[in-house]
Amino acid sequence: MTDSLTIALSKGRIFKETLPLLAHAGVEPLDDPETSRKLILDTNRDDVKLVIIRASDVPTYVQYGAADLGVAGKDVLMEHGGEGVYEPLDLEIARCRLMVAGRRGAGEGGGRLRIATKYVNSTRRHYAAQGQQVEIIKLYGSMELAPLVGLSDLIVDVVDTGNTLRANGLEPLEHIADISSRLIVNRAAMKRKHARVKAFLAQMAEAVQERRGRAA
Ligand code: ATP
Ligand code: PRP
Repeated sequence: MTDSLTIALSKGRIFKETLPLLAHAGVEPLDDPETSRKLILDTNRDDVKLVIIRASDVPTYVQYGAADLGVAGKDVLMEHGGEGVYEPLDLEIARCRLMVAGRRGAGEGGGRLRIATKYVNSTRRHYAAQGQQVEIIKLYGSMELAPLVGLSDLIVDVVDTGNTLRANGLEPLEHIADISSRLIVNRAAMKRKHARVKAFLAQMAEAVQERRGRAA
């Protein structure tokens, strides 16, 4: 009997960009999460299900084995810490950069800086590595607003085109990490369902290679 696989994905860009890679691995969802209210999606394969959750919850579902596999941004994985999960494959999708941003010249004066971010752990690590004490204010989104209304001096957020920063009179100031989405695997599932997971990983890796070949 074939082991079944549950794969955790978030709606939006990760779902859209993972879809062609899944198709290459022979997996096609039977519902569209943008229109369906279902949280567990059947696929064309009886032995593969998709669970649709918040991007920042994907590592947690995989860590506890509620999903065997998942797709999560490196930003989310850095924040989660990666406990209980393997990160065997860079899917090279949802590329962006984790950056410090603010008004031009912000953060150059003395004094303890206030940084607004949803990436509290990564921000703490970044400034600790520089030996700088900062005050971190946890937000859940729209970080770009914080410096505009005096909530913080700086923000830490992901940047792609820079359009959101520009539209709000902010600039990228410091690079923290290059980000892309990774396929992650529950550590126990990797052992228990080894042949099945290995075969799926190989197909996904082939899909990434093929996509890279087409882009070149
Ligand atoms: P949550 O719902 O948990 O708050 P989110 O709204 O950040 O998560 P998405 O916007 O779908 O979720 O982002 C998913 C992942 O895509 C992020 O973790 C990041 O790795 C990447 N990402 C975020 N914004 C961009 C962007 N503008 N361009 C490219 N990739 C991005
Ligand atoms: C992300 C991020 C930035 C923006 C950066 O937001 O939080 O606001 O993208 O992209 P840019 O540099 O190309 O403008 P997203 O569009 O995902 O919206 P949300 O996470 O707030 O839903």
